Amino acid sequence: MGVELEPSALPPRALSRPVEETARLVRADPRVTALVPGFDAPFFQAGLAGYSDGAMRLVARAHGAPFCVTEALLDRTLINGGKGRRKEDPDLIASEVGMGDLDENRAVGLDDHPIAGQIMGSEPDEIARGSEILAGMGYEVIDLNLACPVKKIRRRARGGHFLAHPDAAIDLLRAVRAAVPASIACTVKLRRSYDDTPEMAHAFERIFDAAYECGYAWSTVHCRTVEQRYAGPGRWEFLRDLCARHRDRVVFGSGDVWTVLDIFRMMDACGVQGVSVARGCIGNPWIFRQAREMMAGRPPVGPSIAEQRDVLLQHYRFSEVIHGARRTGRHMRKFGIKFARHHPRAAEVKADFIRCETSEEWAGVIERHYGALAEARAANDGWAPAVVTDASTAAAMEDADTDCGPADGACG
Ligand SMILES: Cc1cc2nc3c(=O)[nH]c(=O)nc-3n(C[C@H](O)[C@H](O)[C@H](O)COP(=O)(O)O)c2cc1C
Repeated sequence: MGVELEPSALPPRALSRPVEETARLVRADPRVTALVPGFDAPFFQAGLAGYSDGAMRLVARAHGAPFCVTEALLDRTLINGGKGRRKEDPDLIASEVGMGDLDENRAVGLDDHPIAGQIMGSEPDEIARGSEILAGMGYEVIDLNLACPVKKIRRRARGGHFLAHPDAAIDLLRAVRAAVPASIACTVKLRRSYDDTPEMAHAFERIFDAAYECGYAWSTVHCRTVEQRYAGPGRWEFLRDLCARHRDRVVFGSGDVWTVLDIFRMMDACGVQGVSVARGCIGNPWIFRQAREMMAGRPPVGPSIAEQRDVLLQHYRFSEVIHGARRTGRHMRKFGIKFARHHPRAAEVKADFIRCETSEEWAGVIERHYGALAEARAANDGWAPAVVTDASTAAAMEDADTDCGPADGACG
């Protein structure tokens, strides 16, 4: 399944004030912080199947992400103790569906909190059992996925396909909330609708209302339809209208958050209480540091070559612990390609990461492009980390020619 990893032409966003001013004014919603201590800023790292494992989360947190969501975990995977995904779903190829393995999504130590474990399933009794197991694993939040666009398997709806079946979706909402101890917050990930028909818009409203009536603390709404998958611009006006109609509810927004500026633009333009950072943080943990910089009234600056090197080495090391030495080379290649865009010689670095298979080759690319000589060369060329602007981001994307084809999987 191909997933665009770069923005398509984005419409202009109607803002009430300069984005720097919004950043200085906004804070984490006190209802969120009261429920989830430590979730102290109005943005977080989204669930990203194939990406947001423990390694990516720890790197994000080190850069200021206050909260992270695991990859979507299938209830049956949890019930089977993390095994048997292929047995249950022989026609599902992991790389297509991209749902997480349990071990890769355990909170990796005290540094990996607060965290939401995300669950997805088809039947109320199974998802209840899976949620109970997840709740016993120390996640602060259990997030129900009603957003994944991956198509139905053997006529069993799951994820976003429930948006076309509101009664069944509400049964899942109830089952999860009833199974999870009251001390643990439940939340839900939604899309703005299944498709653009009035019938499906009505179905969304029913599910959205039911979530809050059942006691869900917040919803994260991806402002594309399930049919739209990941293509085309997200409809921020939908979020603006939803928040305006439900000022008493905590709503987080998702869709087209590509740079730190988009975090605060979305808050201003839509009135959401928090922003889910998804494709915008792949190979870019600095987006979280930049968001905190902007909240403190400072300009958001990109990473130096030394900072890029440290993160690339650290992310690789963490991945080796989680995935093992053999699988890490391939797993990290897709990150390297995205990290390359921060480098002054982005296209060259990207090409080298694409050829990377082993840890030795990875170390070679790091030495060649991020070592002392490379730093000196960049300084000689007059390169220095730049303040993030729309123009600097567009230029970096163009330099890196970052259209890197299909992602491993996409579940929300
Ligand atoms: C590769 C990929 C994997 C994803 N996996 C998940 C997931 O496991 N759980 C989830 O809730 N959303 C998942 N999503 C959806 C994102 O969290 C987010 O809602 C979506 O990408 C829209 O935001 P963006 O346009 O800023 O990227 C995934 C998206 C992508 C691109």
